[in-house]
Amino acid sequence: MALPACSIVIFGATGDLTKRKLIPALAKIPLAKSTEIVLIGRRADNAGLRNEFLAFTKDAKIAKRFRYIQMDFNKFDEYKNIEVKHDNRIFYLATGPESFPTITKYLERAGLASPKPARGWHRLVFEKPFGYDLQSAQKLNHELTQCFTEDQIYRIDHYLGKELVQNILVVRFSNPIFERLWNGRYVDNVQISVMEQHAVGSRGAYYDQSGALRDMVQNHLLQILSLIAMEAPTTAESGDVHDEKVKVLRQLRYVPDSLVLGQYAAGSISGKHVPDYKDEDGVGKRSRTETYAALALAIDNQRWMGTPFYLRTGKATGSSYAEVVMTFKRGSSLFHGKNGQPAPNKLILRIQPDEGMRLQFNLKGNDCCADPVLMDFSHKAEFGMNTPEAYERLLADVQRGDQTLFSRWDEVEHAWRIVDGLRKVHGKTGKLHAYRAGTSGPEEAKKLLARDGRSWHGQ
Ligand code: BG6
Repeated sequence: MALPACSIVIFGATGDLTKRKLIPALAKIPLAKSTEIVLIGRRADNAGLRNEFLAFTKDAKIAKRFRYIQMDFNKFDEYKNIEVKHDNRIFYLATGPESFPTITKYLERAGLASPKPARGWHRLVFEKPFGYDLQSAQKLNHELTQCFTEDQIYRIDHYLGKELVQNILVVRFSNPIFERLWNGRYVDNVQISVMEQHAVGSRGAYYDQSGALRDMVQNHLLQILSLIAMEAPTTAESGDVHDEKVKVLRQLRYVPDSLVLGQYAAGSISGKHVPDYKDEDGVGKRSRTETYAALALAIDNQRWMGTPFYLRTGKATGSSYAEVVMTFKRGSSLFHGKNGQPAPNKLILRIQPDEGMRLQFNLKGNDCCADPVLMDFSHKAEFGMNTPEAYERLLADVQRGDQTLFSRWDEVEHAWRIVDGLRKVHGKTGKLHAYRAGTSGPEEAKKLLARDGRSWHGQ
């Protein structure tokens, strides 16, 4: 379906996200001929700025659509400088959340965006983080919904735009062989891991106020979990999908004594020295911010009763990957594996890198025992190298008016409730385990699973 002509107005245009993600994504999607991109920032326009905008895309043609407006978006008077040529308008707030209420209010007051436009449509896109905790998120949402309606608000969680995350529902609900086994009767445990080799780098000042629970678990990991665990929606329409995701988030419960938080200490990754987290730029010398989190959650419903969901995420770890691993319960077997029982069946959804799916099952090896092998589907090998980036899909969906891959308010609210609860638990124990940069995280995370007679996949 062709994308409608519109004006895309980006606040925070000189920031990293706009240059690295938004402009390259806009350069790749088939925008309507007259769609314009209005870039708003505080810096003066100069020749260098245009090149900065183009630095991360190979397609310089996109620059023909640009218009740069220098302004202070905290000053209402300056909104009169914003001119847009289309009735269909997208306002993308790639700024910190502290600026969301002001920009939103001034857009409405200046008549640039309206809850009921006389012609066309007006949509607002908000980057994460959406608040810092439940209370601030509620306040923020209250302020935004004073001016606009939920169907105009697009809360970004870019993991939802990743190809393999989008695939979760298709795999689940178009394959009876998986669908029938997708419950606690057959699944022993589910592991969701999002590990990053990157240390905090230049984002220390932001990250030190956030930490792994708020930066990754509240959004990306809980969104993946809700897609894995939800019941079948009535249809694949946005409202039905969100309704089922919310139900799961409401049923989530923290498993007592299962929270492991860590902070990286100096180490090395791929031969490069990584400083201690506390020595990173912008980080407090006595910082207690966690750069690693592992925990177990239970879902109190019929489908998942007794099946733990283990989550972990960390910065400055030995390798970068995001995956979901479902380990199936063992059945009786005529054959032995190399070390006794045959290995359990596993379904591995690899979100990145090497997007794909793997199924672990047992075969006769060279001797007569049951050896685990992997049936391997590679997304790139099957569909080519041009898998769209998450932001391409999300930016196209805003233009189409499809909110399926955005977080609805009640999802965000329940996710904050869970994360606030976890932070309270941490407040009581106060434990923060050091791990060397370049390793897989603190030893305590291994003990968390060992205590249940399990281990992390790949450990
Ligand atoms: C962001 C977090 O939401 O996701 C970052 O704020 C993190 O800390 C990033 O590095 C990871 O995204 P991706 O797409 O690189 O896995």
